[in-house]
Amino acid sequence: MFDYKVSVLALLLGASVHAGESVDVLHWWTSASERGAARFLQNRLADEKIDWRDAAIPGGGGVGAMRVLKSRVLAGKQPAVAQLIGPAIAEWADLGLILELDSVAKANDWNHVLSPTIRQLLIHREHFVAAPLGLHRINNLYYNVKLFRKLGLAEPKTMDDLKRAALRLSAAGITPMGQSSEAWQVATLFESLVLMEGGPAFYRDVFVKRNASAYLDSRFGRALSRLRQLRSYTNKSAREQPWSEVAQQLSNGQVGMVVMGDWFKGELLSMGQKLDVDFACASVPNTQQYHLYSIDSFVMFTGDYSQQDAQEKMAQILVSPAVQQGYNRIKGSVPVRRDLDAKAMSSLDRCATSSWQTFNKGKSVQAPSLVHRMAADEKFKDAIVAQVQKFYLDESISVQDNQQRMAAMVRALNAQEGNIE
Ligand code: GAL
Repeated sequence: MFDYKVSVLALLLGASVHAGESVDVLHWWTSASERGAARFLQNRLADEKIDWRDAAIPGGGGVGAMRVLKSRVLAGKQPAVAQLIGPAIAEWADLGLILELDSVAKANDWNHVLSPTIRQLLIHREHFVAAPLGLHRINNLYYNVKLFRKLGLAEPKTMDDLKRAALRLSAAGITPMGQSSEAWQVATLFESLVLMEGGPAFYRDVFVKRNASAYLDSRFGRALSRLRQLRSYTNKSAREQPWSEVAQQLSNGQVGMVVMGDWFKGELLSMGQKLDVDFACASVPNTQQYHLYSIDSFVMFTGDYSQQDAQEKMAQILVSPAVQQGYNRIKGSVPVRRDLDAKAMSSLDRCATSSWQTFNKGKSVQAPSLVHRMAADEKFKDAIVAQVQKFYLDESISVQDNQQRMAAMVRALNAQEGNIE
């Protein structure tokens, strides 16, 4: 029945959030630290009377979550909020499904507090269409400090150091490197190697500009050879383990080193491991000065606009300084804001400080992660990731053959897009 008094009251309340507004949040954070970080956000939102109804879809790197999101939208059951990152945001925004967040952005000065690289990922046709959460660095090498001490090993700075460490670990009966054979995890390692061999400009030629001839370049060939070399330090029969299991292996000394995005640090910390006592973070050799990045963000689906107030409030809370600090500490990432004060800076550990400072040097040191959706559309990313895994698993494919295959694949994908070189 139409209740006149209630309606008038609602009108008078205007833009305020209704008591206990519920928002469905679809994301792929299911490991212990990821759940901890999501719970942190959930609690902060609860303080503001926003009830985060969790729709977590397992699958590292978001492979499953993206499928579920598509089918929910097709069925007309889109969530109020979804973890959506990189160029995919534009694809959804083009369909007119994403809420514009310009008023939140303006009121909270996102134009100044966010760096150009981050802003550009959130803006579509001159409107803010996503709220950023955290900045992840991908080109990290984690190692087990106790094992390294026991074997008298120093932090590997070059590939020769890494090789020496691998041989010593192996002689001591320890698998030198932990590595899942899951496609996105293999490709996460590989993109760091492309950065190592070619630097950010070459990396962009390969993954952003999709320049087919870059795949035939000797630097790309060297990155493929490095991938094989590193595989020889892993347990070659490793199955497609979740990345959080690899974190367990590093913490219990089953493996000595792991290359992974810094959500890995979040996971180690959530297991009670201590930085520089149990594990340490270094850069993938020869990439110290670079930042291979992935920026997590949430988009708000429009639906019938009935949740707009809660969605806008949520966007504002996510980017606020205190939430940025608390959330990113658990997640392993760093704040997206570039206006951190001395207190905020001193609360970052040394891995986080290095990530934040390096990224904020600007575009010349930055490389957008392909695997973590910063560089290209889903189709291109999936094709590259699948071929890298194939090459990794099947050692009968030569480096040169694989270069030819990938160059042909990129040419075909570009032609389909009408993007012929
Ligand atoms: C990335 C995401 C991170 C982390 C990781 C592992 O794509 O940006 O937040 O969750 O996957 O699942």
